[in-house]
Order: sequence, then C-alpha cells, then structure tokens
Amino acid sequence: MKDTYHREINYLRISVTDRCNLRCIYCMPPEGVQWIPHEEILNLEEIEAVVKAAALVGVKKVRLTGGEPLLRKGLDDLVRNIARIPAIDDISLTTNGLLLPYCVKALKEAGLNRVNISLDTLRKDRFREITRNGSLDDVWRGIDVAFEYGLTPVKLNTVVIRGFNDDEVVAIAGLTLKRPLHIRFIELMPIGPSNSWTTGRFVPAEEIMSRINDQLGQLVPAKISAGNGPAQYYRLKDAPGTIGFITSMTEHFCRSCNRLRLTATGSLRPCLYDGLEVDLKTPLREGVGINEIADLILSAVALKPDRHHMLDGWQDKRAMSQIGG
Ligand code: GTP
Ligand code: 5AD
Ligand code: SF4
Repeated sequence: MKDTYHREINYLRISVTDRCNLRCIYCMPPEGVQWIPHEEILNLEEIEAVVKAAALVGVKKVRLTGGEPLLRKGLDDLVRNIARIPAIDDISLTTNGLLLPYCVKALKEAGLNRVNISLDTLRKDRFREITRNGSLDDVWRGIDVAFEYGLTPVKLNTVVIRGFNDDEVVAIAGLTLKRPLHIRFIELMPIGPSNSWTTGRFVPAEEIMSRINDQLGQLVPAKISAGNGPAQYYRLKDAPGTIGFITSMTEHFCRSCNRLRLTATGSLRPCLYDGLEVDLKTPLREGVGINEIADLILSAVALKPDRHHMLDGWQDKRAMSQIGG
C-alpha cells in the first residue's frame, strides 16, 4: 500500500509488551514507568488478527519489539501463527538479548528469522550503569545463541550518548573485523520521560564515521542481506561484519519510511515521533472482522505524516518502551 507521499508501506513493528527487565537510562526514568494493566494490552489473538489484516493491505515484514518482547508469554505461539500467514516473508525481533538463551530454540522452530540486539558498551561496569543493573555477559550469551540457531544476520544496536559511551565507538566498530556482526550506531533521540536528559547528547553519525575512518581505515558502502530499516551500511576492509548508521537526528530518513507501528495497547501509530494514533483495540473487542481492521489500517496510512518533527520542539511524553522503539 502507498501513503499520501507515495511511500510503499510494507513493514509493521509490533510492541508486544511495555514491560522490560532493564531500565536503560535513555529509555526509562530510574523508578521505571507505570506498567500498563494486562487487560489493556492486546492479547495474542488480537495481535494476530491485526497482522492478518495488515497482510491483506500489503504488509510483508513484521518486527516484534517491546519493552522487552521476550517477557511476553506465548511469544513463540504468536511467531508460529504469524509465520503461517503466506504474505509475511520476514519475522524479526528487537531484544536486549538477556532471555534469548532460554527461548531461542522455541522461537527458531516457530519461524523467527532474525534478531537485532542492543549493545551500547563493551564494559561490564558501564553496562550495569546504562541498564541500571544488567549483566553484559548475559547479552553476549544471547548474541552467541542467536548465531548458533541461525537467527542471522545478527544486528547490534548501539545508542551513542555524548560523554557516556562515545569513547567506545571505535572498539565497538572493531567487532565487525572479527565476526559477521552488523553494528548500527544510533543517534540518541529525545523521546519520553528521559528527554530532558537525552536532549543534546546525541553524537552525529558523521562524527562517529570520521573517528572510525581515522582509526580503523576507510569505510566503504555495503549492502546487507536482510532488513529494510533506516540504517545506511558500510564495511571496513576485509571485515565479515558491517557498520550501519541510524541518523534519526541529523538526516531524517522519513522520505523512505516504510513502516507502521502497533503499540502494546493496540493503537496504530503511523510515525514513531508523532502523537497520531488510530485505535484498533476497541473495534477488535467489539468483534469487527479482518476486512474492517484492514480499512482502519489504510486510514492510519493515509494519516502518515511526511516526516517527524524531532528538531522542531515537539515532545512525546510516552517512553520508547511503550511505543516499541
Ligand atoms: P531491520 O532493518 O529490518 O533490521 O530493522 P530496524 O533497524 O528498523 O529495527 P530495530 O528495531 O533494530 O531499529 C533500531 C533503531 O532504529 C530503533 O530502536 C530506533 O532507534 C531506530 N528506528 C527504527 N525505525 C525508525 C523510524 O521509523 N524512525 C526513527 N526515527 N527511528 C527509527
Ligand atoms: N534514542 C534512540 N534509540 C533508542 N532506543 C531506545 N530509546 C532510544 C532513544 N531515546 C532503541 C535502543 C534499542 C531499541 C529498542 O530502541 O537502541 O535497541
Ligand atoms: Fe528495555 Fe530496550 Fe528500554 Fe533498555 S532500551 S529499558 S532494554 S526497552
């Protein structure tokens, strides 16, 4: 399906829970955010119905996010049911990786294709600080099992924060010289309750690139086998992995945006950084059919703005964990 700005919309990001087992400093305030009561969250059958409707109007790719999606009970059943929808050809997951060793087998068997895992630092003490008490070893175990079960390409998300982990970008980029890891450096966005803290602490991708060019050699443009998100990829000479940049702040990629988001509470959000939402939960619970949901999806697509207004002062009060990243 095409939106008003002639963009092809074929990618649905689904937040399956607002809960998380970490409290990353850029994502949540120290006290956490108030968890949404269970009955307000879409159940798995409702999520599946939305995917079926989305498939009718042209969605081909589905990404499961959170909060932390691996906290959602029955996630493997959801993946299995989505994998049975013929039009869907890619099912992926964005996770902090901690629980992956415990559920990787079931997810792979259910039909999950690949995972993107957050990794903001290589230092254990710093990881504990960023996540407010997570263990970096657990993330590495998650990364290892993702390879073991062929959930590839394995992409790593590194949110770069000035004065906090920006001294590690060269070391993190260097990981791609050893393993087929696809690191994506993300410009920190001022979203949610921590936005007073995050505003102005993003590091422009260009600055990161030039540090890598200076210390590890010239980056050359590269392609990656799966995914069609906003990252632009490069490679170091002879490296098995790639280095991507997600320039949410310095060069918005809205022109080629292909996605819709389903929040954990069952609203379709045409844009990550725009308050507009179309409620699907109420009609679903009133018992409307898949075709009516498909029509509502089309109406949400028609509302998709041409671009976000991150730099124009608009601020969202929702946490990233509630929107789905
Ligand atoms: P693939 O390319 O399919 O692997 O997916 P992806 O890179 O889009 O997925 P992932 O969930 O790993 O996204 C990484 C980060 O990119 C998110 O956490 C956001 O910070 C950012 N991002 C993804 N989509 C958008 C978007 O539509 N707008 C903005 N501004 N940022 C986005
Ligand atoms: N800016 C950019 N990316 C963010 N994420 C969470 N909060 C922010 C933010 N303020 C990303 C993390 C994680 C994904 C779920 O969302 O990289 O990989
Ligand atoms: Fe959890 Fe991801 Fe937010 Fe960290 S960034 S607190 S892992 S949802």
